[in-house]
Amino acid sequence: MGDTMIGVIGGSGVYDIDGLEGAEWRGVESPWGAPSDQVLTGRLDGVPMAFLPRHGRGHVHSPSTVPYRANIDALKRLGVTDVVSVSACGSFREEMAPGDFVVVDQFIDRTIAREKTFFGTGCVAHVSVAHPTCPRLSAACIEAGKAEGITVHDGGTYLAMEGPQFSSMAESKLYREVWGCDVIGMTNMPEAKLAREAELCYASVAMITDYDSWHPHHGAVDISDIIATLTGNADKARGLVKRLPALLGAVRESCEYGCDRALDHALLTAPEK
Ligand code: ADE
Repeated sequence: MGDTMIGVIGGSGVYDIDGLEGAEWRGVESPWGAPSDQVLTGRLDGVPMAFLPRHGRGHVHSPSTVPYRANIDALKRLGVTDVVSVSACGSFREEMAPGDFVVVDQFIDRTIAREKTFFGTGCVAHVSVAHPTCPRLSAACIEAGKAEGITVHDGGTYLAMEGPQFSSMAESKLYREVWGCDVIGMTNMPEAKLAREAELCYASVAMITDYDSWHPHHGAVDISDIIATLTGNADKARGLVKRLPALLGAVRESCEYGCDRALDHALLTAPEK
């Protein structure tokens, strides 16, 4: 048994959350460098919360320059147990429409220019990311979204691309038709992998803004269309987040899916004598 602390990493359009009691922006130091921004801490329904804008206030970090390791480490140092990622994405499915949310449960990682692990020379570990998201935390996100009146899809495969350019039509069709992906975004990897290495429960709420470039009746992805959808999505996301403390509770058991014990059998380096 332990105390719950919910960490929220807000994506494009989500740069703060409201309604926190004792809200305070706090700087957190990490040996992995500076996080994207200060962290907004406070309480919602008696549960401690920590909010970090992934791109920084003012949107200063591109998907490739987000300091993913520092962000996850900063949340861990604050005592966060459950990380909810909120991010914009494109859709590969007709039935997953702009304005809908997808609580994704699988990833294909096509990012190529990011630090992806806390473990390198000196301390080697191989964690499993066969099931990269926490089913308990994901279920809470789905319930919160539905209670908020959002169309939420339960599960989906997220293609994480490097960007910052959007995909070509050929890539979009490959990801959709051959690889079976449901949504595409630029930020959930390596974030989900690092959360697992940090033994944090992780769920991803992907907010659809567009149909990427495969759709015959929707043109190429356009940032002004994305921004128009983002504004509505961001309000819905804030509503979803506000419902999480009541669903998760102030006290938590050890994660039944083992997210908080991911390193138990992952370390290969011999302990120092
Ligand atoms: N974020 C929002 N829409 C996207 C898309 N189509 N591709 C990659 N990232 C996105």
